[in-house]
Amino acid sequence: MTESTMRDVSDTARWVAAFRAIESARPDALFHDPLAATLAGPRGPALASGTSMWPTVVRTKLIDDLILDSLRNGCDRVINLAAGLDTRPYRLPIPGEIDWYEADLPAMSAYKESLLDGEKANCRRIVVPVDVTDTAALAEFLAEATAGAERALVLTEGLLPYLQPGEVRALSAVLRRAPIRWWMMDHWSPAMLRAVNVILGRRLGTARWQFGAPLDFFEGWSIDAAHSTFRAAARWRRSPAPLWGSALLPDAGIGPLERSRLWCGVVRLTNAGWQEREAAQHEESAQ
Ligand SMILES: C[S@@+](CC[C@H](N)C(=O)[O-])C[C@H]1O[C@@H](n2cnc3c(N)ncnc32)[C@H](O)[C@@H]1O
Repeated sequence: MTESTMRDVSDTARWVAAFRAIESARPDALFHDPLAATLAGPRGPALASGTSMWPTVVRTKLIDDLILDSLRNGCDRVINLAAGLDTRPYRLPIPGEIDWYEADLPAMSAYKESLLDGEKANCRRIVVPVDVTDTAALAEFLAEATAGAERALVLTEGLLPYLQPGEVRALSAVLRRAPIRWWMMDHWSPAMLRAVNVILGRRLGTARWQFGAPLDFFEGWSIDAAHSTFRAAARWRRSPAPLWGSALLPDAGIGPLERSRLWCGVVRLTNAGWQEREAAQHEESAQ
């Protein structure tokens, strides 16, 4: 195994943090993440060298914008599952009254906290080590993290491809049962999963991608917002020139997005259970 091979799934957090550091140094940067270089550490640049950074850069900006949009539309809690080395509470204008929860594997959480000591976040940040594939531990964490919130948003950025389909199904069911309004994620359909495993090959080491499915995989969730990575990358001049034509495609791609086996992008899903609860409350208060 070389320095540029992922040793474990948490190395992928150093990998994407290195991309954010490189983007932040551009004069036309789509975002500024001043902590990214420190968090990526010496391994981050080695993992990043020779791999394409534009899909990560573009998804970061799409998710930044969609989080701020959710906060403008009543989101009162953010729960970042598999937060890795994400620093949005430090670099985005998150209102001070927002509680922002972060969960990741214990070693990653400890590594990040050791480097963030002394840094000040814009909102209250609560860090809890959780293995999201342990459904009992996840449900317990969500009960704590959603307490007192009316419109909680869960973010799983860069997580699902590393899980097995059964683990994603179980995660989806736990989230659906919790009082969660929105679930935001980067989404990869089956053709994209295959392409990434071929392109990155041995680089991924033990962190080979395992999950990619059409969006109708997520039972009990409906699509609330969808932004194509290819389209945004072309618009922002981040993808290779041969892909610039993607700027002309609709955000939802061609054909029904729910069943697309080719699409990749950022989506915000709405919990059908939450919608039903809200409709019932409206009916009660109207009587
Ligand atoms: C590609 S990184 C993404 C990190 C961050 N969300 C971002 O976009 O910068 C994947 C993250 O998933 C975390 N992860 C993988 N499996 C996990 C699990 N079972 N429970 C909690 N976190 C997990 C890793 O530790 C790592 O931080």
